[in-house]
Amino acid sequence: MSEEKVILVTGGTGLVGKGIAEYIRQQGEARTNEKWIFLKSSDGDLRSKEATSAIFQKYKPTHVIHLAAKVGGLFSNMKYKVEFFRDNIAINDNVLACCNEFGVKKCVSCLSTCIFPDKTTYPIDETMVHNGPPHHSNEGYAYAKRMIDVLSRAYNLQYGQCKFTTVIPTNIYGPHDNYHLADSHVIPGLIHKTYNAMRKHHNNKNNTDLTIMGTGKPLRQFIFSEDLGRLFVWVMDNYEETEPIILSVDEEAEVSIADVVTMITEAMEFKGKVIYDTTKADGQYKKTASNKKLKSLYPGLTFKPMKEAIKISTQWFIDNYETAPMDNSYITKDGRVAQKTNWRLSIISDYFWYFLNQIVFFFETLFSDPATEKYKKKHGDRDRNYLGWNNGNGGGGNGGGGGGGPRIRTLNQVGKSDDI
Ligand SMILES: NC(=O)c1ccc[n+]([C@@H]2O[C@H](COP(=O)([O-])OP(=O)(O)OC[C@H]3O[C@@H](n4cnc5c(N)ncnc54)[C@H](OP(=O)(O)O)[C@@H]3O)[C@@H](O)[C@H]2O)c1
Repeated sequence: MSEEKVILVTGGTGLVGKGIAEYIRQQGEARTNEKWIFLKSSDGDLRSKEATSAIFQKYKPTHVIHLAAKVGGLFSNMKYKVEFFRDNIAINDNVLACCNEFGVKKCVSCLSTCIFPDKTTYPIDETMVHNGPPHHSNEGYAYAKRMIDVLSRAYNLQYGQCKFTTVIPTNIYGPHDNYHLADSHVIPGLIHKTYNAMRKHHNNKNNTDLTIMGTGKPLRQFIFSEDLGRLFVWVMDNYEETEPIILSVDEEAEVSIADVVTMITEAMEFKGKVIYDTTKADGQYKKTASNKKLKSLYPGLTFKPMKEAIKISTQWFIDNYETAPMDNSYITKDGRVAQKTNWRLSIISDYFWYFLNQIVFFFETLFSDPATEKYKKKHGDRDRNYLGWNNGNGGGGNGGGGGGGPRIRTLNQVGKSDDI
């Protein structure tokens, strides 16, 4: 009987890690004599060499699928370039060093198509990763990712005991995604927005429109996380080269953002109106990647039809709305990103400030001379503010509805305009 494989998946709780876990679960008996360990960040911070070594010491992996990364959308990539660079460099350096030190046989690390040069020809392929600077918005993340390829090659040449390689997936979607409205990838962001608009519609609220930023014309290749999970395992079992391999659907399977919107709205049975706000920027028109190399090595490769995979993804979000990873932001009627608040806390806080104001008002009235201009000015304003009490908006949720929905503040003197 062959030696048991111990496969350690860093970042095992993220979108891709869950895709791999689901594929392994479906394989059941087909993958005996293997032990899969899916790490989360609370198992150890991979930015620390000590913590990373402790994990490798504990599990003694024979194989590593390295997914863990500081990942984010456009806004956080632009705002935190230093952290995206340093955290990812540290994570990658520690994981690859431990693979080398602890006798791991193979390490498959994850790059991304968004690290390719900004100015390039299409379709992009595996030979083009280092051909020019990445887009300035994500250069911290992109350069840190590119260094995995550099380091993998260096380890293979200099040490050669562990086989290091890398894969390059295109845009990924599926269950367990990150549903931040302000800073998510396109599909989870659209699912969350559609859900909010749908809930408004079902609650018979006025605003049933789903507003999409841009024309909806840009084209993208999307890969379902469970298909990607299967491909990661295939790479671990079969791919022997050091050079990266693009894991993508065919070029012909590229879809427009409008196509994705249609699939999502159909899957979620959204009955409202879809509006494309063409005053907003579209971003790059296309980023087509070639999967020629993959298909030459994996003949007969098929992918789950996107409509079906979108249905699974939307249903997962609906079923897991309360626990799905998301921040507390939401999109306002006019397309801004605003913060939603816990409505119970919000009500308590509103009442607290209201009664505090009343007490202050009472004592000020008691000890001030109402005839003075100062008194009239101050209390005149305050009286006007209080007229805002319950001004047009009922309590409860806006969009998200119920406990999870953004709270509409009912006291103007404490409400922030973005809460509405
Ligand atoms: N999502 C995409 O569209 C896409 C596209 C191309 C490539 N990729 C690549 O695919 C890989 C996985 O992405 P994903 O979308 O699955 O990411 P994700 O959902 O954000 O998950 C990230 C994972 O990394 C872990 N992690 C983050 N910082 C860590 C740290 N300091 N120490 C230990 N673990 C840490 C997280 O653990 P916790 O959950 O416990 O925090 C989580 O398991 C990444 O390398 C990413 O660059 C993603």
